[in-house]
Amino acid sequence: MGFFVTFEGPEGSGKTTQIRLLGDWLREQGLDVLITREPGGTAIGDRIRAILLDPAHKAMCPEAEALLFSAARAQIVREVIRPHLDRGGWVLCDRYADSTLAYQGYGRGLDLEMLRTITAFATDGLWPDVTVYLDLPVEEGLRRRQQAEGIEWNRLDAEQLAFHRRVREGYLEMAAADPQRWLVLDARQPIEAVQKAIRERLAARLRLPARASDTLERRGAP
Ligand code: TYD
Repeated sequence: MGFFVTFEGPEGSGKTTQIRLLGDWLREQGLDVLITREPGGTAIGDRIRAILLDPAHKAMCPEAEALLFSAARAQIVREVIRPHLDRGGWVLCDRYADSTLAYQGYGRGLDLEMLRTITAFATDGLWPDVTVYLDLPVEEGLRRRQQAEGIEWNRLDAEQLAFHRRVREGYLEMAAADPQRWLVLDARQPIEAVQKAIRERLAARLRLPARASDTLERRGAP
C-alpha cells in the first residue's frame, strides 16, 4: 500500500506549485509519484468537471452539485488513485472529499452527515493519509485569483464572500478535529517555507531527514 496526500485551499494559495515541488522531491527519493486533481483526472471526470464549473449552469442545485463531484470522485478513485496506491506508489491529489464537505457542506449548507455517507460510498472508504490545507484569508484568496492570468473564473469562484468564509471556517474546523491527518499552513508564507513544512511532515513517512531547504536551493525553486 502506498501513501495518499491531498491538498486543499483556494486557487491563490499556491497548491499547484507546492504539489509540483513535492512531487519532484519525492521522485528524487525514488518513489513512484502520481499527481492528479479533482474534479477531473479521468476522461469521465473531465466531462463532469466541465458541467460543474460552467458559469452558465447557475440553476444547478446543491444536491446535484454534491452528487456530480462525488461521481467524478468515484471514478478517479477506482480508475487512478486506488490502483496506484495498490502498486505501492504515492498519490498527490489537488482536492479530494474534504472539498465536498467544505464547499457543499459548510458552504452550501447541505447536511454534513449525509455528505459523509455519500462520500464514503463514492470513495469506497478511501481517505488520505495526510491532507495539507493551504490557508489564506478569503479576501486575499479572491484577490490573488482575480489577478492571476490565464485562470478561468468558475461557477464556484463567483460565489459571495460569505460563502467563501463559511468554506474556510469549515476547513479549519475539520482540521482542528483531526490534527493527525491535517497539516494547516499559512499560504502567505514564502513558497520555500511552505514546502519545507510539508516535507518535514512527510519525512517521517520516508524515514529520511527533511533536507528540504538544501534541495530547494539546489533546484533554484521560485
Ligand atoms: P478548480 O478550477 O480546480 O479550482 P482550484 O484551482 O481552486 O482547485 O475548480 C474546482 C472548484 O470546485 C473549486 O472552486 C472548488 C470546487 N469544488 C467543490 O465545490 N466541491 C468538490 O468536491 C471539489 C472537488 C471542488
